[in-house]
Amino acid sequence: MKIAVLTSGGDSAGMNAVVRAVVKVAILKGCEAWVVREGYEGLVRGNTEASSEQFIDDEPVNLPDNASTDGSSFNLIHNLRFGDGDLLKDGTGDHPGTRSLKGRYIVRVGFDDVRGWFAEGGTFIGTARSKTFRTPEGRLQAAYNMVKEGIDALVVCGGDGSLTGADVFRAEWPKLIESLQSEGRITMEKAQLHAHLRIVGLVGSIDNDMSMTDLTIGAPTALHRICEAIDNINSTASSHSRAFVLEVMGRHCGWLALLAGVSGGADFIFIPERPPTAESWEDQMCECIHRHREVGKRKTIVIVAEGAIDRNLNPIKADHVKDVLTERLGLDTRVTTLGHTQRGGRPCAYDRILPTLQGMEAVETLLEATPTSPSYMIGIRENKITRVPLMEAVEMTRAVSAAIEAKDFEKAMSYRDPEFKE
Ligand code: F6P
Repeated sequence: MKIAVLTSGGDSAGMNAVVRAVVKVAILKGCEAWVVREGYEGLVRGNTEASSEQFIDDEPVNLPDNASTDGSSFNLIHNLRFGDGDLLKDGTGDHPGTRSLKGRYIVRVGFDDVRGWFAEGGTFIGTARSKTFRTPEGRLQAAYNMVKEGIDALVVCGGDGSLTGADVFRAEWPKLIESLQSEGRITMEKAQLHAHLRIVGLVGSIDNDMSMTDLTIGAPTALHRICEAIDNINSTASSHSRAFVLEVMGRHCGWLALLAGVSGGADFIFIPERPPTAESWEDQMCECIHRHREVGKRKTIVIVAEGAIDRNLNPIKADHVKDVLTERLGLDTRVTTLGHTQRGGRPCAYDRILPTLQGMEAVETLLEATPTSPSYMIGIRENKITRVPLMEAVEMTRAVSAAIEAKDFEKAMSYRDPEFKE
């Protein structure tokens, strides 16, 4: 079996570890391992004929006991890791003497190509939010490129949007193959060989916003990063007896904000799933912080999730919180937006372990897949790696947002975690 892996959507720490695990386990199980660069965009772009000529993709992969890195493989690693051209604009990112990746988005890799990737931040194979893949023409081209390279199974690591894309692709696959055959782009033999697509999803997202799994890849590292930032801010806040308002990422999910607040000793936390209960959150927050100051606290930390809302679903913004603290409590207040420092950098230990275990499970799932089995998402529940139908998880995640919009916060929480109790 030829298994390809891609990373899609916003990057997260641990994506490199996913690629490494999938590649290594696929090879150990006797499969060919491929990577798709630049997410779904790479599937749509595929490999140009010219690039195929100068790229020897059928050369033997490095085997696990081949400890030394041979030249060709080293060059490939070098380009994947250090290629710094704008790949989407088809710059080469190549370095002199290396194996060129120009015009190649679907690349066969060996064991050595992913050596040491578990400890590296971001995603070496690139990621993108592909517009073309969202169109039927784009998906047809993607299917063609996969068949052309003989890929029969795909591992997608990304957030809920990327996993929805995976499910749509799999559902459409038979029709896409039929079209390619009727257009004469692939032979009947190839069409029969690629009648079904095996696909599996891993959740890579710092937001931890996917239902039916306890944790997403990259969320623990982002949380750790925020926690460190709060520790740093705590000391300067305390010195000046200041208030700090920290805006943290998470899109429509408050997991990062809530847990960062708990682990960093915040005074007040705003999250989308549980807006302040009072009509005036300003009063509620000020009363709470006033109490804390009264008992002797020298510093104030307020965490605002980027998707935070009040009980009327109006956004709560860090700058407004700052104004309230300054004007109503007379606190010398600063705003810190942590931004992409939360997403980048080396993965913490758990973001190496989780992708490794889930990457292994993903390959097993592909090997066991049948034409009638659903596409699975690999999750983790109560410390056990799980397989759940991909579409069910995606639909549940969408239902959370719908419930929040309908102000049914309890329902939202129960969709996110079916065992949730008030
Ligand atoms: O989904 C991950 C995430 O980092 C969100 O927390 C955030 O809202 C968004 O992506 C930021 O996206 P971008 O990197 O495109 O600015």
